[in-house]
Amino acid sequence: MQQRRIGAVRVGAIGLGAMPMSVGGRPDTDRAVRTIHAALDAGVTLIDTADAYSLDSTDFGHNESLIARALAGYGGDTSGVLVATKGGHTRPGGSEWGLDGSPGYLRAACDASLTRLGVDAIGLYQFHRPDPRVPWADSIGALRDLADAGKIRMAGISNADPDQIRTARDILGDRLASVQNQFSPEFRSSEKELRLCAELGIAFLPWSPLGGIGRAGDLGGRFRPFAEIAEARGVSPQQVCLAWQLALAPVVVPIPGASRPETIRDSAAAADLTLDDQELATLDAA
Ligand SMILES: NC(=O)c1ccc[n+]([C@@H]2O[C@H](COP(=O)([O-])OP(=O)(O)OC[C@H]3O[C@@H](n4cnc5c(N)ncnc54)[C@H](OP(=O)(O)O)[C@@H]3O)[C@@H](O)[C@H]2O)c1
Repeated sequence: MQQRRIGAVRVGAIGLGAMPMSVGGRPDTDRAVRTIHAALDAGVTLIDTADAYSLDSTDFGHNESLIARALAGYGGDTSGVLVATKGGHTRPGGSEWGLDGSPGYLRAACDASLTRLGVDAIGLYQFHRPDPRVPWADSIGALRDLADAGKIRMAGISNADPDQIRTARDILGDRLASVQNQFSPEFRSSEKELRLCAELGIAFLPWSPLGGIGRAGDLGGRFRPFAEIAEARGVSPQQVCLAWQLALAPVVVPIPGASRPETIRDSAAAADLTLDDQELATLDAA
């Protein structure tokens, strides 16, 4: 698979978003493990997770534990796999999502993620979402301290605006390796963060790149040019969408979600699909 960079680490240009394997409608463990193994077989070396990817507070950490289990049971070499997790979202009760960006919470969350992932240091640790009750610099300072302590190798931020990216860069320096924001055909407003990342040489990971769980399957119905180009190329509209995102800048590494081996195999093939200038212009305008 075509390779891209997150900090100093080379990863396959298409990552795996693991969230659909732990939230509502999730598959059984056997299918989830087969999905992760299919991703690895296809050359995927970036797996995106978060401690909060779970049904509710009672199985907090489900997704991280699932990934640790799938990697341990994989027949091949997993030393080149970058597991990118996140902290800062809580699951206060039932299926609700809360926030805690306080340094003390992030320190404890990181320790718990280290244990669930069974590693000495987390390859990429991302602050999940700004917490309005905590100064941004305090949350990012916690990531710097985790890096200084050797608990995380690289830091990332998610759902951040350009000012927050610049501040995080000032605090973390080169250890700020990635920004993860929502970006898809229907959600393009984070293109300004994507462009800033391209300028600064920081990886940009579009989340819900296909429009999100429950909507991704109908991407071609909602955005006809993606379906038309897909038909002409003999590939899926989802592959065209991911190839279009890859062409936006060399720092882009999409993380399509999957809960079935077939879908991640199809998405991974987008790394080898090169669209021409006319196709890209059509999709930009779609
Ligand atoms: N940082 C944040 O705040 C944040 C928020 C949301 C998500 N994320 C991350 O971003 C990742 C991706 O987002 P997402 O999972 O919400 O949405 P998504 O990637 O836009 O869509 C996921 C859905 O797309 C389907 N799919 C994937 N590849 C396909 C293909 N080639 N053809 C047809 N269908 C395909 C999957 O179906 P199957 O389930 O049938 O395989 C899956 O349910 C998440 O897994 C998570 O890691 C981060």
